[in-house]
Amino acid sequence: MAKRAASFICQICGAVHSRWQGRCDSCGAWNSIAEETAASDTLPANLRGGRKGRLIALESLSGTSEDAPRVRVGISELDRVAGGGLVPGSVLLIGGDPGIGKSTLLIQASAALANAGHRIIYVSGEEAVAQVRLRAERLGLAGSSVELAAETNVEDIVATLSEGKRPALVVIDSIQTMWTDTVESAPGTVTQVRSSAQILIRYAKRAGAAVILVGHVTKDGQIAGPRVVEHMVDAVLSFEGDGAHHFRILRAQKNRFGPTDEIGVFEMTGLGLREVANPSELFLSNRDSGAPGTAVYAGMEGTRPVLVEIQALVVPTSLGTPRRAVVGWDPSRLSMVLAVLEARCGIKLGAHDVHLNVAGGFRISEPAADLAVAAALVSSLSGAVLPADSVYFGEVSLTGAVRAVPHSVARLKEAAKLGFNRAVAPEAKGSGKNADKGAGKGNGASKETQEPPLAIDTVTSLGDIVANIAARGRRSASRERQEG
Ligand code: TYD
Ligand code: MG
Repeated sequence: MAKRAASFICQICGAVHSRWQGRCDSCGAWNSIAEETAASDTLPANLRGGRKGRLIALESLSGTSEDAPRVRVGISELDRVAGGGLVPGSVLLIGGDPGIGKSTLLIQASAALANAGHRIIYVSGEEAVAQVRLRAERLGLAGSSVELAAETNVEDIVATLSEGKRPALVVIDSIQTMWTDTVESAPGTVTQVRSSAQILIRYAKRAGAAVILVGHVTKDGQIAGPRVVEHMVDAVLSFEGDGAHHFRILRAQKNRFGPTDEIGVFEMTGLGLREVANPSELFLSNRDSGAPGTAVYAGMEGTRPVLVEIQALVVPTSLGTPRRAVVGWDPSRLSMVLAVLEARCGIKLGAHDVHLNVAGGFRISEPAADLAVAAALVSSLSGAVLPADSVYFGEVSLTGAVRAVPHSVARLKEAAKLGFNRAVAPEAKGSGKNADKGAGKGNGASKETQEPPLAIDTVTSLGDIVANIAARGRRSASRERQEG
């Protein structure tokens, strides 16, 4: 037998190096490289070569396959993010910081499915059975028929799973604690995590059971990040949130069976995770609408509108290079909005620090937030308070024009539902002249010509909104003078 070659694998990103080094060239992490046996040893014996290939039947693309029937968990925030329920035979990875609530979510999901009559197996590699039971008791789930095990050896787990009735769901908490006999590396190393995941994935496809793997995202390099299994699984969800806020967001990053722009919102309570069906109410609950620099943004997360408050603070800088601090939004997008404000509207912010915050710890990825950000910035700079009953959305282009964004009707409806009276937004796509033409041809009352649920202040360029806010500032200043 050939001598086993050692290789040096980064425990964060999985890059293979020929010798040890202090810093991984691939992901830049320090002290993350560990010695492991060569990756070829991770293949099972029958795949290590020497075997003559077997003929595979090739199929046509147009054949009929039945639609994957989904198992609905009954926690609608989770079901929606998973694309409408769990697909039997699929493997889902839930990543997130330690202590964010992954185990809590999954024991709740397991209990909900077990109560619906499914066979559910929950394997904890981190906690003893007594600890899992204790948590279930606290959550009021002790009566459900979830089958528990505290085990870390994948061969033993798969052998156990293959006995008896096929489970509808198997939860493996967490993949980093799993190890297999087929590789020699220590548990928690990339090679072990990858091989264990491979074995569990093969089990899921063969048996047709849905498998959820839990993965910790660690930055210290001690345990392999779930990065290395992301490409092997069918869906990757991340569970996010921070210690300062008690709501958590489940976000799909990859999904072979569903959309990737959906989010699920939960609130961590003393009795476990509670679904938040209307996140806008939560994000706007502590609004301080009397101060300049805040604007409410009517955003979309997947198919659902979400209203959040955007806060900006523009202050004269004491530094040579002004500070640009952003929480919850893309910093390069902020730079762009600042540049457009300067170039197209003459607003110079070179001598000001700019702080931007999305309230409540929410994270926005849509360019449709540009207009709300610009409004908050101008409001903070000018000291003019924006009207408390207005929402803002629209994409700002480099020319200073404000472009229409998708789903404007859904955004407007959500704003109207939450008691807003006005929307500052670009003209919706499909409305205006073209829609009139369509109606003239007898297309009937199309959806676009529907009465908008609230008044719209149409803006076509960033200059419009800057002028509006400046006029408000002047009006309120003159009012103050008159009163004073
Ligand atoms: P846990 O699910 O163990 O996190 P993870 O598996 O992602 O590491 O959640 C741990 C945190 O959740 C812990 O800090 C306590 C908190 N928690 C509650 O606030 N309420 C609850 O009902 C439960 C079970 C946990
Ligand atoms: Mg846990």
